[in-house]
Amino acid sequence: MANQLQAEGTAVITGGASGIGAATALRFAALGMRVAVLDVNRQAGEAIRAQLGEGASFHMCDVSDAAAVERVAATIEQEGPPVRMLFTSAGLIPNCESVLDMDMDAHERMWRVNYFGTVHACRSFGRRMALLRRGNIVTVSSINSFMPLPLPAYNPGKAAISRLTQLLAVELGRQGVRVNSVAPTYVMTPPLRQRMEAGLRDERKMMAVHALDQLPTPEDIAEAVAFLCSDSARAITGVTLPVDSGWLAAVSYKTYAGGVPWGEG
Ligand SMILES: NC(=O)c1ccc[n+]([C@@H]2O[C@H](COP(=O)([O-])OP(=O)(O)OC[C@H]3O[C@@H](n4cnc5c(N)ncnc54)[C@H](O)[C@@H]3O)[C@@H](O)[C@H]2O)c1
Repeated sequence: MANQLQAEGTAVITGGASGIGAATALRFAALGMRVAVLDVNRQAGEAIRAQLGEGASFHMCDVSDAAAVERVAATIEQEGPPVRMLFTSAGLIPNCESVLDMDMDAHERMWRVNYFGTVHACRSFGRRMALLRRGNIVTVSSINSFMPLPLPAYNPGKAAISRLTQLLAVELGRQGVRVNSVAPTYVMTPPLRQRMEAGLRDERKMMAVHALDQLPTPEDIAEAVAFLCSDSARAITGVTLPVDSGWLAAVSYKTYAGGVPWGEG
């Protein structure tokens, strides 16, 4: 696949200091792209930048601030080479709560980072790609964009990101820019690991609703992103690609009221 991805130009990764974003930053650096990481975690961002090779840059940037994202986009544009790829991984991961009792300040913050942060990055970098008539954007949705989970700020926000991805795919398609999304299931990144350790996620329940007996790694998500940005995916735009160890297939199947007599795995 490496030689099918146009491995030149700059790859911009929001939230690239940790987890899925960091794995994707490393994947695109390995493909030969110059990587620019935007994140609010300076220490982790500088540590990743040091692993990303020559020309890589870290930009301290809160994606919920449209003007800040635009300033970073202008800086990256001046420094060249042109941005060919944007991956919008910056995001907050919540705990379970009810709609009636949720903390509205936290709700608003989550929308500002997860949804508006995606909008801001897509606008600033997508505009520039459209002018150059070339590029790939991959947003980050979630399995819960397809079905409800009790995460009332996060869940509708991820569904909105999938829909936004479709809108952008149509707006930018005739300008040579493809826009897709990845929808991971549970991926063992720092926020999920912390919640497992705090007893806020149950490993047995988690594994019971997947078809496969393993969860995707951050590198598995990065691989899907690399595929979506490659020429092998030249006819694919506007999709939300589950990278979910079969969660979407299994989650209703495995809860069938008649049970599954041949074993639940
Ligand atoms: N880990 C999972 O199980 C899982 C599942 C589905 C979707 N996702 C999505 O994947 C994306 C990455 O999650 P992760 O698990 O790698 O988490 P992570 O915490 O490891 O990485 C997220 C990064 O985003 C950065 N960030 C947070 N707020 C920011 C802001 N305002 N501006 C810029 N950067 C900011 C963080 O500093 C962090 O480096 C998120 O959008 C998340 O919703 C994760």
